[in-house]
Amino acid sequence: MFGRKSKFEIKTPEQFLLMRKAGLVVADVLAIMQNHAKPGVTTLELDLIARDELKRVGAEPSFLGYFGYPSVICSSVNDEVVHAIPNERPLKDGDILSVDFGAIVEGWHGDAAITIEIGTKIPEQTELSRVTRESMWAGIAKMQLGNRLSDISHAVESTIRNAGNYGILEEYTGHGIGTKMHMDPAVPNYGAPGHGPELIPGMALAIEPMATLGSRHVRTLEDDWTVVTTDGSRASHWEHTVAITEQGPWVLTAHDGGAAYFAAHNIPSPASKYAV
Ligand code: MF3
Ligand code: CO
Repeated sequence: MFGRKSKFEIKTPEQFLLMRKAGLVVADVLAIMQNHAKPGVTTLELDLIARDELKRVGAEPSFLGYFGYPSVICSSVNDEVVHAIPNERPLKDGDILSVDFGAIVEGWHGDAAITIEIGTKIPEQTELSRVTRESMWAGIAKMQLGNRLSDISHAVESTIRNAGNYGILEEYTGHGIGTKMHMDPAVPNYGAPGHGPELIPGMALAIEPMATLGSRHVRTLEDDWTVVTTDGSRASHWEHTVAITEQGPWVLTAHDGGAAYFAAHNIPSPASKYAV
């Protein structure tokens, strides 16, 4: 299968091992973000912690300088959905924070995002985050040889729709990833199944649903980055970078490679072989 002509960047197994290194840096930094995000902490402080960790492990940031982006994380609070720039506002009890982070190791990118509840958990927000995360995993589960790209999109959308009345962003999508952070193909978070390119070994995709407690409509603030909901409703964003291998999907930005999820859902995957 490797070497087959494709419109997309097809990685060798050795190149996936390099992407795994970047993926594990991303997983570690997001775990650190999770531990430090508390009421009173600022997102600028979180950004500095992420920068320190990158230095410590000798990896580079994917986001810093990307079209002039000024930070290494995106930290989107409450009605901010994605791409919010870290700032000096302290996080408050009851906030919902999405941290998006990308790292480069030996030229290969990893990209992932988590949603963190700050202090007291609010059931409605807990459920929004759970559903968004679950939709990401449902999409990842479709990353099997022979499936088509929109099978992922459809699984994401139907998971969210079946869970309740949530807004699903359409302007922002998942994406191919490898020697660049954003590559073809785009991976929409909605659509009918059975369309688009066939999934083949060597592809790597970032799957990243964004959902809101209200409308799906968003606008960008004057800083040209921060994307907020037009109705002020709160949002969640989850993302993983996933490799498609001959043996099934391998979640490069999850410490266990996705092994726990795949085992629980009877999905073939090489993840347990590479779990750390
Ligand atoms: N990880 C983000 C995504 O794929 C990209 C962040 S944009 C940046 O949606 F400018 F901050 F890098
Ligand atoms: Co991404």
